[in-house]
Amino acid sequence: MHAYAMKDPILFALDSVGQVRSAGRLGQFCVECHSPTAVSIDNIAHSGERTKLSGISAHGISCDVCHRLAPNQSTTSNSLKFILDSTRLGPIKDPLPNAYHRSEYDSRFEDNSEICRPCHDFRTPNNFPIERTFTEWKNSTFPGRLISCQTCHMKFYTGKAATNGPERERVHHHTMVGVDVPLTEFPGRDETIAEIAAMLTYSVQMDVIAPKTVQSQDSSISMQVVIQNILTGHNIPSGAIFERQMWLEIIAQDEKGDTLFASGMLDKNGDLLDYHSNEVRSGRVAEDKSLALYNGKAYRHGEETLFFWEADFVDNRTIPPFESRMNRFQIPVPKRGGAEVNVSVRLLFRALPPYLLRMLGHATLVEKVPIFTMETHQQTIIVQ
Ligand code: HEC
Ligand code: HEC
Ligand code: HEC
Ligand code: HEC
Repeated sequence: MHAYAMKDPILFALDSVGQVRSAGRLGQFCVECHSPTAVSIDNIAHSGERTKLSGISAHGISCDVCHRLAPNQSTTSNSLKFILDSTRLGPIKDPLPNAYHRSEYDSRFEDNSEICRPCHDFRTPNNFPIERTFTEWKNSTFPGRLISCQTCHMKFYTGKAATNGPERERVHHHTMVGVDVPLTEFPGRDETIAEIAAMLTYSVQMDVIAPKTVQSQDSSISMQVVIQNILTGHNIPSGAIFERQMWLEIIAQDEKGDTLFASGMLDKNGDLLDYHSNEVRSGRVAEDKSLALYNGKAYRHGEETLFFWEADFVDNRTIPPFESRMNRFQIPVPKRGGAEVNVSVRLLFRALPPYLLRMLGHATLVEKVPIFTMETHQQTIIVQ
């Protein structure tokens, strides 16, 4: 996704909207981080030129962006500083000389989240802290246990750091997968999807607490679903939480297949049944009052905004490391002894909601956003 950072149609669309809304004052804000070289080398003037970038600038967070990131970056602004001589920094203490660049050891690289902080903890142009992945990690017990961003996102293996170099005990995979998938023709899309699916399966634990039997005179079955963030090094979701959606889908049917209760369902446009759904807003479909959705909502002057960089407040509904969230659902009981209630619970995740893609004029991309199943639970409750 680092190579995709300056190819992303959603970035281009949001940046264009931002330029119009701010009458150009947004300037290079987004690009300074998504492709620092585009700003420092090409000095691109306005957003119309963003999609036309070529060479190194189109490569987003390229090798050099990380391996030339200067020490002592600011912790209070997004502006990045780079080393401009031929030195490349990295985690190897005894680099062999080569004909292309000088190589120097830098402790920020080796198992150290510090190298990720300048971009994964960022502030809006008004200096409001908006995406806090590094801080979330820092405030957890992971640093004390020597677990860095690299531990989970850059697994090591034994191999060569360069074609003609020696075999080394620890070199690192650079795929750095999170939850996002490329929406364009982009190398590795299928592999990325497979890696995300694997990561999401191991990131949380879901426990469902429901009775095995109920009485036919009971008015409802009380079911609890507890989600615990056990293996994610920061909140889940994290970072672009205004776009991410993690939610519970609950379907309860009787033995004839008639639905007794449903939550977390999608409308015909693929949206959850809250106020972002056109179907709910027009009154054709009822709002899902039980919806358990984990994400972030950005507000400006008390109004929700999809333009997160304008925010002055965030309603954060993500789950910090080792914390859990409990949801209670009431399922109606069929009024006949011997009836069965078949309950299916799934925890689902997607990177981008359809309403956002539509708003940005990218409705055709909706089908390219996979919905990942993180956890499942099935159970039959007998009515006595
Ligand atoms: C203990 C393992 C672990 C550690 C440590 C860890 N991550 Fe993650 N990361 C995950 C998992 C699992 C996911 C997928 C679930 C999610 O979105 O939170 C993820 C997702 C992400 C995402 C996408 C988040 C989203 O929802 O859009 C980003 C960005 C990210 N990690 C960056 C980092 C950075 C930067 C650090 C260090 C400060 C870090 N991670 C540390 C496991 C980890
Ligand atoms: C997002 C930042 C980032 C980008 C982009 C990046 N690297 Fe790295 N790279 C790292 C970090 C961090 C490590 C060290 C990980 C550790 O030791 O825990 C590393 C390690 C290395 C090493 C040392 C051997 C190893 O794997 O540990 C080499 C060589 C390297 N990177 C080359 C590259 C090349 C070539 C590219 C572009 C194709 C690239 N890197 C892109 C962050 C980055
Ligand atoms: C120069 C800025 C920069 C640095 C340094 C950086 N990142 Fe990123 N990272 C980004 C941007 C921008 C994206 C989003 C790309 C996109 O999807 O458009 C991203 C995306 C990611 C993702 C994928 C998120 C998703 O939702 O799929 C992960 C995981 C990640 N970074 C981990 C890391 C780790 C680990 C480090 C440190 C070793 C690091 N990054 C260093 C800027 C940076
Ligand atoms: C200081 C660095 C930084 C700045 C500035 C920045 N971003 Fe990002 N952006 C990131 C990182 C890091 C991620 C990955 C977070 C994640 O996946 O959760 C990201 C992810 C994204 C994504 C998610 C990719 C996707 O398609 O789901 C979009 C879209 C995006 N940024 C747009 C923007 C826009 C628009 C701006 C300007 C208003 C902006 N960014 C400014 C660092 C930055």
